[in-house]
Amino acid sequence: MNTAKQTGIAKLDINGRTIELPVLSGVEGPDVVDVKRLYAEADVFTLDPGFTSTGSCESQITFIDGEKGVLLHRGYPIEQLAANSGFLEVSYLLLNGELPTQSEFRKFTHEVTQHTMLHTQMDRFFEGFRRDSHPMAMLTGTVGAMSAFYPGAMDSSDPDERHLAYIRLIAKMPTLAARIYKYNVGQPFVNPQNDLSYAENFLRMCFAVPAEKYETNPILAKAMDKIFILHADHEQNASTSTVRLAGSSGAHPYAAVAAGVASLWGPSHGGANEACLNMLREIGSVDRIPEFIARAKDKNDPFRLMGFGHRVYKNYDPRATVMQETAAEVLYELGIDNPVLQVAKELERIALEDDYFIEKKLYPNVDFYSGVILDAMGFPTEMFTVLFALARTVGWCSQLNEMIEDPSQRIGRPRQIYTGAARRDFIEIKSR
Ligand code: CMC
Repeated sequence: MNTAKQTGIAKLDINGRTIELPVLSGVEGPDVVDVKRLYAEADVFTLDPGFTSTGSCESQITFIDGEKGVLLHRGYPIEQLAANSGFLEVSYLLLNGELPTQSEFRKFTHEVTQHTMLHTQMDRFFEGFRRDSHPMAMLTGTVGAMSAFYPGAMDSSDPDERHLAYIRLIAKMPTLAARIYKYNVGQPFVNPQNDLSYAENFLRMCFAVPAEKYETNPILAKAMDKIFILHADHEQNASTSTVRLAGSSGAHPYAAVAAGVASLWGPSHGGANEACLNMLREIGSVDRIPEFIARAKDKNDPFRLMGFGHRVYKNYDPRATVMQETAAEVLYELGIDNPVLQVAKELERIALEDDYFIEKKLYPNVDFYSGVILDAMGFPTEMFTVLFALARTVGWCSQLNEMIEDPSQRIGRPRQIYTGAARRDFIEIKSR
């Protein structure tokens, strides 16, 4: 780690002094001004709510060029990974830095499939939830609860314990997510079947019922796998930063991942896929699109086009391109002529020609088409973000591990500019 090179100096004139700050260059992306020593040397902090200009770590996992619409995992473009690879291979890549050899991949796949079952007592947790609980509420609770079953994972200084924790999390997430779905619909839990692929096994755990024979559909399993790949990691977004921040105190890895799940839930982040499909359904028909475009542009209306815009991408989100193709494949396979897909395509066309969206560089993001596919596969909208969390678990684990192995890692502790009351003396209640 710590391979960013100093390539220059930035000078900051402040309070009559000139402070020199190192300028660092990574392999790709803009240079950064290293302000680590600013407080010690100049007695000032930087202020950046929402972290729009702030890097929080050095990372070798994922690179995004938001202007060009590029996403690389360990150097490999997402389009190539989605076309040629599988989710478990991408998981290995994210965790280990290199694509696996055949024997490495066999070993990794075997490890993951050996850990797909949940501790039987985990099933009791579900009974405590209302039947209509939001799946993300259940996921936040049950992922955190798993930390009680694996106390050994608390020892983050042991690389074997860390590895086991990541394998278990990746292996158990589909089982947990499928149980959440089954609990909502009131069907019996289906246990994992380890001779199936990761995606096939997940679909079977969700949609098989004891009364009928279940056959996996290879086209749907491939689409599911692709959706998992497209969501596997996305550098320092809100949920990943949450996992890193929670983990920086030495918290249990399952608890840190549960914090990531909580952060993912919101409609500005992972919850956008659910919100987007609800919005497309509300629009309902192509002739109502202009009304919703007008609302999205109206400063006095809080409505936003869900599935549009991104903090980093100021161009087409490359994941959205793959997602659009996959949506067409899945709907064709299922023989569905979904009016929602027509609304989505037309909305995209109109928005991309509109000055407001052009000026603000607002393009479809990964969530714009994913809901259409998941809906066609039979998932209720409330499950969409759970599937995102399932796939993002490997990204969270990779990022958490990178942070733990980084010798410069310290507990995350941002500062503030205080604008509350100045020092004042306490007044007895009777005198107030
Ligand atoms: N519809 C209409 N206007 C928008 C939209 C949108 N979807 N997104 C941004 N804007 C406008 C916004 O009103 C603001 O205008 P102005 O400069 O006049 O105040 C400008 O564009 C910049 O927006 P911002 O909110 O300052 O940008 P941000 O980087 O803080 O937010 C975002 C990024 C993704 C939260 C935002 O674009 C958004 O709310 N999009 C809809 C939700 C969504 O699709 N989220 C999924 C993101 S991708 C997957 C993930 O991260 O989980």
